[in-house]
Amino acid sequence: MFWLPLLTLPAAVQGQGFSTTMLRFGCSQIAIDRVDPLVEPGNVPSAHVHQIVGGNAFNASMPVTDISKLATCTSCTFDQDLSNYWTANVYFRARNGSYKRVPQMVNEAIGPANGGITVYYTAPGPNTVTAFKPGFRMFTGDVNRRTPTNLGRRVQSCFRCYTGPNFGGNIYAPCMDPQRDTEHFPTQPCPGGIRSSVIFPICWDGKNLDTPNHMDHVAHPIDGPAPFAVVDGKCPDSHPVKIPQVHYEIVWDTTAFNRKEDWPVDGSQPFVLSTGDPTGYGQHGDYVFGWKDNSLQHAMDNRCFGPTCRGLTTQGFDKANACTVKRLVNEDNDGWLDHLPGQEHLAHPM
Ligand SMILES: *[C@@H]1O[C@H](CO)[C@@H](O)[C@H](O)[C@H]1NC(C)=O
Ligand SMILES: *[C@@H]1O[C@H](CO)[C@@H](O)[C@H](O)[C@H]1NC(C)=O
Repeated sequence: MFWLPLLTLPAAVQGQGFSTTMLRFGCSQIAIDRVDPLVEPGNVPSAHVHQIVGGNAFNASMPVTDISKLATCTSCTFDQDLSNYWTANVYFRARNGSYKRVPQMVNEAIGPANGGITVYYTAPGPNTVTAFKPGFRMFTGDVNRRTPTNLGRRVQSCFRCYTGPNFGGNIYAPCMDPQRDTEHFPTQPCPGGIRSSVIFPICWDGKNLDTPNHMDHVAHPIDGPAPFAVVDGKCPDSHPVKIPQVHYEIVWDTTAFNRKEDWPVDGSQPFVLSTGDPTGYGQHGDYVFGWKDNSLQHAMDNRCFGPTCRGLTTQGFDKANACTVKRLVNEDNDGWLDHLPGQEHLAHPM
């Protein structure tokens, strides 16, 4: 059965307008590659490695157009979703200074995906948000951040340490549980893996499909960033249009990297983002909208919940996993590496 987060969210959150319109579905990886059509269009290779999911129109640069018409398949389970979603990868840095990429694992109640990202779209209720327009794209996070935002339950980027198998028995309310969620990488080994959560802003200027920093056309509500699935904040006059809240979850399979004797001698945690960030505060997400026609608007207006929606169609992971794009940068992403790809200046920082 599909999980029912309403039943397990803290009462305070339910009282704050927790959404009942919420798509939650899996997207397998279409590539792990050093390209970034949003921040570094055309650069092959780009500065750091990403894991990418969604439609196969993904490329080193992508035209500001309706990419649902360019893609011929998607690695997401909704047939209508040819968007692209990507994040930095996580690497393990061994005591001897070598790096190894940490694979993603399948999230709770998703099905046999090939790694990838769990994607959420939420709205406060039917007919309350305006879906993105063809060509829309955005970025969230700050690659250079190395300190906490201290936004409490409003943090837009966090990690949860799964303390045992089966997701540590607690998958709910990402970034809202101060006992479990941190803005930095967990400091202790996580036997069930580490979950990354990345949440995007929910207000749009109503005009621009993109802006030079890929962020200025979107904004947070006036009371501050909206917590996960709480989409009822008031948008500022500059960005009056409420959009669905896009949220990514990635579960990193750290099980091969939990031996303390491989961890740094000083006892610090060994994981690092592909950007070279050893703190995790610099976690970020990239989004290029690509739903067909009005399918996302339809889902948001019709109380759709979970991995299905009346009026939309889905495919199995047999088909989703078969949708891939050819890698553009041929370099070793999987062996032991003496530096992070593109981050030669950080070699052997021990
Ligand atoms: C990606 O871009 C290159 C260069 O513009 C082009 O030749 C190629 O066909 C594109 N691939 C896809 C899948 O669109
Ligand atoms: C570094 O340590 C890892 C983990 O113990 C090991 O697998 C790898 O071969 C080592 N690399 C070098 C260059 O010694």
